Amino acid sequence: MTHKILISMGLLRESIELARSRAEVDLHAGDDPLPKAELIARLKDKEGLVCQITDTIDAEVLGAAARLKVVANVAVGYNNIDVAAAHRRGIVVTNTPDVLTDTTADFAWALLMATARRVVEADGYVRAGKWHRWEFLRLLGGDVHAKTLGVIGFGRIGRAVARRALGFDMRVLYCDTVRADLATEAELRATFVDKAVLLRESDFVSLHSVLTPETRHLIDAEALRAMKPSAYLINAARGPIVDEAALVRALTERWIAGAGLDVFEAEPTVHPGLLGLDNVVLAPHIASASEATRHKMATLAVENCLAVLDGRPPLTPVH
Ligand code: GLV
Repeated sequence: MTHKILISMGLLRESIELARSRAEVDLHAGDDPLPKAELIARLKDKEGLVCQITDTIDAEVLGAAARLKVVANVAVGYNNIDVAAAHRRGIVVTNTPDVLTDTTADFAWALLMATARRVVEADGYVRAGKWHRWEFLRLLGGDVHAKTLGVIGFGRIGRAVARRALGFDMRVLYCDTVRADLATEAELRATFVDKAVLLRESDFVSLHSVLTPETRHLIDAEALRAMKPSAYLINAARGPIVDEAALVRALTERWIAGAGLDVFEAEPTVHPGLLGLDNVVLAPHIASASEATRHKMATLAVENCLAVLDGRPPLTPVH
């Protein structure tokens, strides 16, 4: 019997073809996520779901999908899925780790560089026809090389961000719930510290934690006040790790120098206070969005889904 899969997002053509070569595919290729009622209705006869982070796969959705065996998220993060509820129903959840690590780390660095060196402001200045002469004191930013990078969340992406700092002669501090092994610390020249030390000493604080109840608002007003006034905050992890209202105050009142944000508390809504500020660089959640990486993520998600439907172990299950 042919398996039935719902792909709730516009994947790349090759991965849709891969799915179609082995299953009957119901494709929702619209820009907006499926409304919950429609998602539930279309999942009724499906054994597999390939979905995106804007799909909320909660206990209600899972409970209504009696035939569902696998939820394959096309993302490394999976806070949009009630994993415990899925596991209680024997439904496998998979994500797309590894394939996006370097691309995401590259983008965290793009935000870091753009923020410190005011690249977006500079671009706007030139385009607005304001550049009439070379000026010694125009658009002065912060240095990156030889500064201190603080990485919060020292998993795959956090480590890849730290690795890039070696080329900039930076001192690297990190904090996480568990300490990395000594070989990793030595290779990345990274020092394990507690959050208070990291916030106090870092020139750049880059967030790479997963979103959990414990990391929600990890960066709140108190944390922002603990940072140096010359420091920058980078977030390419999940928006709710930062208290966005507190960040607006911190940037407006210059508790910190700037921020680079790829993620927001209530995406796609951005706190209006951020939109008028020069000292923040904003991006629409695109850290893993290189052509090659999005291709790998889509293929991996489809392969995960097909593996479970074929009775094979998934390549990258969420435990
Ligand atoms: C994107 O945010 C991801 O989790 O892959």
